Amino acid sequence: MKLSSRLQTIDDMVERLYGHIWDCCCDHGFLGQQLLRRQAGITIHFVDIVEHLMVALETDLNALETERLWKVHCLDVSHLPLLHEEKSFTNCPSEMSKTNSSDDHLIIIAGVGGERLIELMEGIIKRHPNKRLEFLLCPVHHNFKVREFLNDQNFGLQKEVLVKENKRFYEVLHVSTQAGQEVSLVGDEMWNLQDNDHQLYLKRTIDHYRHKLNDSSMNAMRILSAYEMVGA
Ligand SMILES: C[S@@+](CC[C@H](N)C(=O)[O-])C[C@H]1O[C@@H](n2cnc3c(N)ncnc32)[C@H](O)[C@@H]1O
Repeated sequence: MKLSSRLQTIDDMVERLYGHIWDCCCDHGFLGQQLLRRQAGITIHFVDIVEHLMVALETDLNALETERLWKVHCLDVSHLPLLHEEKSFTNCPSEMSKTNSSDDHLIIIAGVGGERLIELMEGIIKRHPNKRLEFLLCPVHHNFKVREFLNDQNFGLQKEVLVKENKRFYEVLHVSTQAGQEVSLVGDEMWNLQDNDHQLYLKRTIDHYRHKLNDSSMNAMRILSAYEMVGA
């Protein structure tokens, strides 16, 4: 199975072995299955709120011959049970020595709207207030809002990539509470303005906020000014 370019980009951004990788809002679980195949995590967790999807996915996963552990969770991502999973780690000490500690989670949230994604992250942060958290995020729209939220919550940037799929653009953000680099509100290192696609995405984004200037519910002028400074 070939991943879409957006999911392939996210897969490429998982650059080391993790203790737990959470494919949140996983739908059919394509991304998590790829991570399972290439053994990117000791345990790969598949999480979605739709029960019949998770039942079908569990059947598919049972048919795979894989040495890696996987778990299927039918739940709201804002209730992610990270602490519970740490306790269950004590039975595989040799594998854990390959990662830094048992407290080693990568949480992937992709393919949901930016506002929903913020709600899900708020739930996770609230449940794990003093925990080191690491996310790979790929919101659908509302990237500025997501980036503002990440700044407010003191997340730092590890990497960001712009990806085009079916004429649409997506920003993929790798962030953690440990990273020192500030998350830019409009993106910083993701831009390659020599690339026609990147120019197109910037133009589309600027046009979008120009059309929103009369919308009193959002601060479009401030956002527009910030995007107009990209590459200036
Ligand atoms: C469009 S799919 C995204 C699939 C995949 N992550 C991707 O990027 O292609 C969105 C999925 O999010 C799930 N979802 C929405 N809200 C959720 C929540 N609060 N908790 C868990 N799953 C949720 C939906 O059931 C749906 O399967």
